[in-house]
This record gives sequence, structure tokens and C-alpha cells, in this order.
Amino acid sequence: MFAVRRLNVETAKRAFSSSAANATKVAVLGAAGGIGQPLSLTLKQNELISHLSLYDIVNGPGVAADLDHIDIDGKVTGYTPDNDGLKHAITDATIIVIPAGVPRKPGMTRDDLFNTNAGIVKDLATAAAQYAPKAHMAIISNPVNSTVPIVSEIFKKYKVYDPKRIFGVTTLDVVRASRFTSQLKGTSTKNEKITVVGGHSGVTIIPLLSQTGSTFTDDELKALTHRIQFGGDEVVKAKAGSGSATLSMSFAAARFVNSLLRALKGESGIIEPAYVRSPLFESKGLEYFASNVELSREGVGKIHDLGPLNQYEKQLLEAALPELKKNIAKGVDFVHK
Ligand code: NAD
Ligand code: LMR
Repeated sequence: MFAVRRLNVETAKRAFSSSAANATKVAVLGAAGGIGQPLSLTLKQNELISHLSLYDIVNGPGVAADLDHIDIDGKVTGYTPDNDGLKHAITDATIIVIPAGVPRKPGMTRDDLFNTNAGIVKDLATAAAQYAPKAHMAIISNPVNSTVPIVSEIFKKYKVYDPKRIFGVTTLDVVRASRFTSQLKGTSTKNEKITVVGGHSGVTIIPLLSQTGSTFTDDELKALTHRIQFGGDEVVKAKAGSGSATLSMSFAAARFVNSLLRALKGESGIIEPAYVRSPLFESKGLEYFASNVELSREGVGKIHDLGPLNQYEKQLLEAALPELKKNIAKGVDFVHK
């Protein structure tokens, strides 16, 4: 009897210590917004997350209280800036996802959001550098081409910079590329895995359709490339002033977070596109570039090169590089001004 009881205690202890070792806190900053809410709902359903921590300048606790009624194990907490809310929200986080900031209205470019969002991202990155310097940062807030350099420069300033842990989330570009190509070709999205490289805005989004194995007429190629580059505008226009992509974005971000969590736990062979510190165009003065990245226990693993490009894609790349370089410099300068 005593032996059985002791065994149960030992088993319970082991279960507790292994669940403590697997404890994974994911923080969403901007959790009450258009992306933040559906993203948090999806993350709540992710069994790899033991603690979902939600922060927003308004309604963080409200969204958390709501999600905490879902009968799936795991802790949900919510914060506003009161009582050191941001510090509590991010301390011990494994991943911090940032969709905080304003979205576009029709007629605006992503760069038009810089004046508002750069400051928001800088403040959140400053808190992360102080209270969660080991967290993996997944940046959604636009303009991503500039906000990722902002986060990186802040982490450098606090001497906690590890480029393997800072990602611009570009998953939506490959999600759209897959969907739009399948719509054009009448195929299943499952068979349309498209590589998209560069950055996350207009001409900096470069789909490598020549690598799909499908054939396109010149007109199809131009129209499909344009649709992938400016897919965000379709949603901004359709929402007519009430915001930009939120639901497809939360789908894309949840996929990225899930892939990163699996890789951090040791699964190999997981590849997602991401805008990261990259050697690919360093010789041309670009510190950051989006391409397929093999995720690893450290975050960024192997950065894949672009593979073979046709003449059309080489032209797209030539058009993208100067714009991307300008966007990166704008983010870096913002931190050092
Ligand atoms: P939204 O306005 O609906 O939500 C933004 C949320 O951020 C709001 O709840 C707001 O209260 C909160 N917020 C503002 N300042 C904050 C701060 N300092 N700390 C914490 N929270 C703060 O906007 P949205 O539609 O969710 O879009 C958010 C951002 O994501 C925009 O910049 C948008 O352009 C960008 N976005 C990026 C992608 C991508 O592919 N990377 C896709 C879609 C949208
Ligand atoms: C998108 O691609 O949908 C986002 O970057 C939001 C936008 O402004 O288009």
C-alpha cells in the first residue's frame, strides 16, 4: 500500500516537473486588436502553449477573461499598462508576438504607418530587451521592413541582440501566394507551395513563381505577381476604412508561432518564410531579407538562398532592393536619431 502510494507521488512529481520543463509562455502585445483577438483565440487552442499572456493598452484583461472560459488546459492572463502590466505580460515569455499598432486605410502605403507604429514597436521592444531578453520576437506591426530593424537596434542598444530570435512575420505573403495561384490554376492550395522572398510591402514582395513547376502566360504571370505583391491592398480596399487583413493574418501568424514552437522543442525540418537578419544581400548593404528559413532550437536555423531566378524575377529583385534598403535605413535611423 505504502509502495503504491509512494509510486503515485513519484509519478505525479515527474509529471509536474516535466510539465514545468515544458512550460511555454507566449505573449501577444496588441491582443485586443483586429489581429490580436482572433490570433489569441487560435493560440489558446495550441497545446504547445501553457500560458497565453495578453497585453493591450485597452481591454487586455477583458480578452483574457473571455478566452479563459474555454475548456482547454493552460493559463490565460491579461494586462494593460497599469501596475507594470507590460513587464508582467512579457517576463519569462518564450515568444512575444507583436501585432500592436495602427492598420492602413485606403490610399495609404505601409510606410505611411511608420510615424505611429515605429514608436509603439520601439517602446515594446525596449520593454522586451529589459524584461524578456531571451524571448523570440515575432513582429507583425507594419511597416515590417522597418519595424524589424527597430527591434534589432533596440536589442543591440541593450546588448541582448541575438539575430536568431528576431523575426518579421511574412507568412501571409506565402499564404496568399498559395491561395491566389490555386485560384488561377484551379488546383488545390495544398499543391501550391510558393516561395516568396524580399520584404513585406508592394514591390519588395517577390514571389518566385518560376520555381513552382507550373507554366504561366506572360499576362498571367504579371497579374498573379501583382496580386501577391498588393494582396494587402485588396483587403484594405474591401474593408473601406475599417482596417486591413486581420483574420487571414491571424491564421498566418498562428501558423508561424506553431512552427516556431515545434522547432524550439527540437523538431527538425520545419521551414517558414521570415524577414530576418540575413547574409543573402549583405554585400549589397541589406542587413535584413525575407526568405525561407529552417527553424531550429535557437530560432533562425539555416537561411535558404533564393534558388534559380528567371529574368522576370531578377527584374523584380532589382526593383525591390533599393526600396528595402531605404526601409531598413529608416528603421535603424529612427532608433539612433
Ligand atoms: P488594430 O487597430 O485592430 O489593433 C491594434 C491593437 O494594438 C489595438 O488593440 C491597440 O489598442 C493596440 N495597441 C496600440 N498601441 C499599443 C501599445 N503601445 N501597446 C500594446 N497595444 C497597443 O490593428 P490590426 O488590424 O490588428 O493591425 C495591427 C498591425 O498589424 C498593423 O500595423 C497592421 O498594418 C499590421 N499587419 C501586418 C501584417 C503582416 O503581414 N505582417 C498583416 C496584417 C496587418
Ligand atoms: C497585409 O499584407 O495584409 C498587411 O501588411 C496589412 C496591410 O496594410 O496590407
